[in-house]
Amino acid sequence: MNAHFVAGLAVEAGTILERRPGARVVRVKWGTDIVTEADEASERFLRQEILRHYPDHRIVGEEFGSSEAEAAWEWFLDPLDGTVNFSRGNSYFAVSIALAHHGVAQVGAVYRPLTGELFLAERGRGATLNGEPLRVSDAGQVGEGIFILDWGRQTSRRDTFGVLGAIFYAANKIRSFGSAALDLCSVAAGQLEGFIHPGLAPWDFAAGQLILEEAGGTVTALEGGPRTIEAGSVAATNGHVHAEVLGLLRPGAAPSR
Ligand code: IPD
Ligand code: CA
Ligand code: CA
Repeated sequence: MNAHFVAGLAVEAGTILERRPGARVVRVKWGTDIVTEADEASERFLRQEILRHYPDHRIVGEEFGSSEAEAAWEWFLDPLDGTVNFSRGNSYFAVSIALAHHGVAQVGAVYRPLTGELFLAERGRGATLNGEPLRVSDAGQVGEGIFILDWGRQTSRRDTFGVLGAIFYAANKIRSFGSAALDLCSVAAGQLEGFIHPGLAPWDFAAGQLILEEAGGTVTALEGGPRTIEAGSVAATNGHVHAEVLGLLRPGAAPSR
């Protein structure tokens, strides 16, 4: 599979988003969980291009779902990751595309239109940002690290805080930006040490996970099991702090300050 093709799709879909600032909200999924015209326009474009070139591939997209038919090759599309930011004029949003073979991501592309940053990885071939190799940070302790904690819906936040609380107290700095795909890429770029999320869909993390792993990082579920391409929790780090993070995520881990 040609990573160049996947990257090109991400950039073209990003250009659609760039042209639609302040796009109209077409649906409200839940609370502030919205869908804009731009989400749908981007996914429509991606589906059309993929099916034109690969009619026998399966597409799993956030806005228009997936077909029942099984296929060896599957595309996981987040046509606009960070919709809430986008709808408020905040530039922290991206297009995220992963291509998997028998359930294992082979190519991942995350494109941030307003900065022109293209994160790209191919399994076994490393990860790049606009063609330059990406590498995670060297930090070896949670206490010296910057962590992105993301919180999910209001109804589940009390439980989430119970799980993430120990990291909240132990980390040097805490951030929360609103695009899981870009968050994973920031860890891959060595800007931060980790990203923790209680529950994501495969289109949110599949591309970012591959990019981070190819940059030397580690991604598991919060309980430490492998992060497969099914929906679930995500603990993503530079690798050096992963064991410490999983220890802090264990139920009952005491706040350290
Ligand atoms: C959301 C973002 C956000 C995460 C949410 C996702 P969307 O994706 O990645 O950071 O906290 O769980 O749903 O809805 O903007 O594509
Ligand atoms: Ca998303
Ligand atoms: Ca989305």
